[in-house]
Amino acid sequence: MRYARILGTGGYLPDTVLTNADLAARVDTTDEWIVSRTGIRERHLIAPEQATSDLALEASRRAIASAGIEASELDMIIVATTTPDMIFPGTAVILQEKLGLPGIPAFDVQAVCAGFMFAFATANAYIRAGMARKVLVVGAEAMTRLLDWSDRRTCVLFGDGAGAVVLGASDEAGVLATRLHSDGRYKDILKVPAHPEQGALIGNAYVHMDGQAVFKFAVKALSELAVQTLAEAGKAKEDLDWLVPHQANLRIIESTAKHLHMSMDKVVVTLPGQANTSAASVPLALDTAIRDGRIQRGQLLLLEGIGGGFAWGSALVQY
Ligand code: ACO
Repeated sequence: MRYARILGTGGYLPDTVLTNADLAARVDTTDEWIVSRTGIRERHLIAPEQATSDLALEASRRAIASAGIEASELDMIIVATTTPDMIFPGTAVILQEKLGLPGIPAFDVQAVCAGFMFAFATANAYIRAGMARKVLVVGAEAMTRLLDWSDRRTCVLFGDGAGAVVLGASDEAGVLATRLHSDGRYKDILKVPAHPEQGALIGNAYVHMDGQAVFKFAVKALSELAVQTLAEAGKAKEDLDWLVPHQANLRIIESTAKHLHMSMDKVVVTLPGQANTSAASVPLALDTAIRDGRIQRGQLLLLEGIGGGFAWGSALVQY
């Protein structure tokens, strides 16, 4: 049996940190409100001269080093992003150039905060099918560039960063199951309603969100997704060592864990210092917990992402 295994991971957060107190100086909010409603304490901000591909490059270099491979061994690059360097070419192609790997297929996946799960499942499918051996899968975002800094309902929620994983073909168990879902009926509860036309951006290029609708949808979808993914691989909740969920809101994560009767001791939480980094959040959380020794080789992990569309996806992984 040919599996895709996680060979290495990497993460990168830009240097500039914006605390809740910094935000309270800009809009009518407080550290207490933000912490109690979201769990977020601070977030990292991309530098003016940086692009999403620069964040992706740092995370990718770290993932390649941790996989113990040469970049030249990669045969595919997939980047999940909602905040590409430009409309085209894809950020994956720009990353490919920065890594010096001309010729291998490189493409973007756009499924907002679920993007990394869509990219990861795609890479897994290529490896399982024997069409790729080593794939670099990246989630990289500059979400703060989509924020209206006068809108306290949204500007407190997001941060920037990138996470990357190298998946490689192996006879040893790795990715056991993946699931992907989308439902366009919910497209209006979370969106950036703008499009390019004749050299201008038409519409409003800021995040718009119905927070309570998003909250309800996310808890239900993530809980059901966990049960379905475990069942698909013939595993029980008790078999799970770690849940690595999308880091949007601590209350969403806690409610999901409660629905699953899981102790928060088995849930990776990186949100307080990073806020919601959209497609970067799952690989960043994964990388953090691997590097700090929480996640160990041989353990069973459930990765889950969810975001605008709505789109949601998971991967059950024998690490
Ligand atoms: N500071 C102070 N007050 C605020 C702030 C803020 N930053 N934001 C909103 N408020 C106010 C509102 O204006 C409102 O005041 P009003 O009653 O005078 O009108 C009051 O707080 C309550 O607003 P609600 O929107 O009802 O607050 P709620 O308890 O629902 O919390 C929140 C809002 C945190 C956004 C919550 O709905 C939530 O967590 N939703 C999930 C959204 C999310 O995580 N999105 C991330 C992107 S989606 C994803 O990645 C899955």
